[in-house]
Amino acid sequence: MTEKPIYLLAIESSCDDTAAAVLENDKVLSNLVARQHIHEAYGGVVPELASRAHQQNIVPVVDAALKKAGITKNQLHAIAFTQGPGLMGSLLVGSSFAKSMSIALNIPLIAVHHMQAHIFAHFIDEPGFDKPTFPFLALTISGGHTQIVKVTDFSTLEIIGETTDDAVGEAFDKTAKILGLPYPGGPLIDQFSKEGNPKAYSFTKPKVDDLDFSFSGLKTQILYFIQKNTQLNPNFVEENKTDICASVQHTIIEILMDKLNLAVKQTGIHQIAIGGGVSANSGIRQTLKDAEQKYGWKTYIPKFEYTTDNAAMIGIVGYQKFLAQNFESSSVVSKARIEL
Ligand code: KG4
Ligand code: ZN
Repeated sequence: MTEKPIYLLAIESSCDDTAAAVLENDKVLSNLVARQHIHEAYGGVVPELASRAHQQNIVPVVDAALKKAGITKNQLHAIAFTQGPGLMGSLLVGSSFAKSMSIALNIPLIAVHHMQAHIFAHFIDEPGFDKPTFPFLALTISGGHTQIVKVTDFSTLEIIGETTDDAVGEAFDKTAKILGLPYPGGPLIDQFSKEGNPKAYSFTKPKVDDLDFSFSGLKTQILYFIQKNTQLNPNFVEENKTDICASVQHTIIEILMDKLNLAVKQTGIHQIAIGGGVSANSGIRQTLKDAEQKYGWKTYIPKFEYTTDNAAMIGIVGYQKFLAQNFESSSVVSKARIEL
């Protein structure tokens, strides 16, 4: 006899994307994101504008996700939402919505940690994508985080390395800003890199102890490099954009790979999963793929739609918590900062 399926609605609103997904057990029935383009004009996310846009987007996005999944709200068994970390005003829109819906439908409410969700996105049932087996190392790289996490099981996660200043996504976005590219610049640097020579320019890699990272020095180095060269040739950036992007991206990938190699050496764990918005980067994806042959690792690269912020990843953690009956009351609070 087959068990009755669990239908779960997941909401993600930690930063500037309003996202909703519907899952049937560990399968994604719908996964929609309303991107907020309003921030592009400001060169970064404006928190006040983000929460206002979430308020406008959340009802239509949830409606569309239910419709696309072919599910009515009365069929839902639980609602999961992002508790943190993130922008408080943004988080509150998602949590208030999830709370009211769980009260109205009288179904359980599940709170999810955003960075855990980036890690466990690999457990979404997707044809052609293997799920990691425990223990594995997760490299979580996003606009706000850069961490190496030792994952022993669904509830045992240990941060064994993290950035001491900027996140890797910020390194991409700030470089893009220096080059005059719009926010978020990560995807554009990726695109230009494909046409450029990664060895055209060399940047010094930061010396940071153990498994920790630092990206602020690299950003300053790039700023001075661009200023110096633009003084000599005002068209320097325009004429060499692809080579600059490829060289910066190459340096960032080397920094990440050096630390991953050290983490493998220290832990003896050869299974590596990447997650977070920066794991959309084609250079990083290819390097990780090549590492299987080069180092004998088993690497897990998420499906593209589960890399940048999305609600399906909140849903998969929600599903695990549903199975563990790990529910919250409606007094649960959103947290801008929250331990992994
Ligand atoms: O996980 P995410 O969507 O939001 C946060 O939780 O921060 O990550 C956003 C970050 C941004 O810094 C963005 O520039 C970066 O991910 N990003 C990329 C690429 N796609 C997104 N960075 C490099 N290459 C990409 N293809
Ligand atoms: Zn994220």
